[in-house]
Amino acid sequence: MNRLSQSVEILRKANHLITLTGAGISKESNVPTFRGKDGMWRQYNAMDLATPQAFNKNPTLVWEWYSWRQNLISKCQPNPAHLTLAKWEEQGFLKTLITQNVDGLHRTAGSTKILEVHGNIWMIKCTECAYKSQLTSPATGIPPCPECGAQLRPDVVWFGESLPQQVMGQVLKEIELADAIIVIGTSALVQPSASFPLLVKQKGGHVIEVNVETTSLTPIANVHLQGKAGVLLPQIDQLLRIK
Ligand code: APR
Repeated sequence: MNRLSQSVEILRKANHLITLTGAGISKESNVPTFRGKDGMWRQYNAMDLATPQAFNKNPTLVWEWYSWRQNLISKCQPNPAHLTLAKWEEQGFLKTLITQNVDGLHRTAGSTKILEVHGNIWMIKCTECAYKSQLTSPATGIPPCPECGAQLRPDVVWFGESLPQQVMGQVLKEIELADAIIVIGTSALVQPSASFPLLVKQKGGHVIEVNVETTSLTPIANVHLQGKAGVLLPQIDQLLRIK
């Protein structure tokens, strides 16, 4: 049985399917990945831009980078991989979508049961008070907090920061319930997300990996589907529909 049919078999038998997505699922929407050859970290040093220290040292530079990404993302559309996951949620087939991405493309595609473990690039929060809000267009300069006047920052998780507690609680609950996880477009280098598939596997669940290359997760995957998410997800969907 080829790998595609193997993964369809697993998905057909799943009672509680969840997914973990990374930057690779948005690559075909022209959102650069972080570590690929044209990854966005290549032009920028992650440590120079996505840490609290970097923001304190040079908030203008950090906001310039986020505003550049907001500009870029505002021109991107969900691709067939995002749309397939949204359809699977609507059919009650996919229970929860856990994403490391901050680009918001899953929501644009129609997914609603989303856990954004690294936050969302359009959300902002005050560095001093509890003010939070959502941008509708890319930021210009360092936006001041309308409540207390302090600097606003992107409401995303930076290196060295912990994931939002409430979201993590929901993720662990989903992992408890899951008997299958499809991992799409992540290098599985950043914790704790990289461990989520392992936890599903350890409790006897199945792991399917969709990636254009192998990763550290590949050895523990029940099936590794090598290829583009935007091509493979619709193919899986098609095979699922064939009774
Ligand atoms: N289809 C499937 N996978 C793809 C595609 C594609 N079309 N294009 C690239 N990939 C894969 C790459 O092979 C790589 O394994 O997507 C993965 C992207 O890896 P990263 O760029 O490291 O992105 P990600 O895994 O999401 O990074 C995790 O690191 O920098 C932090 O907070 C940031 O959320 C991010 C986290």
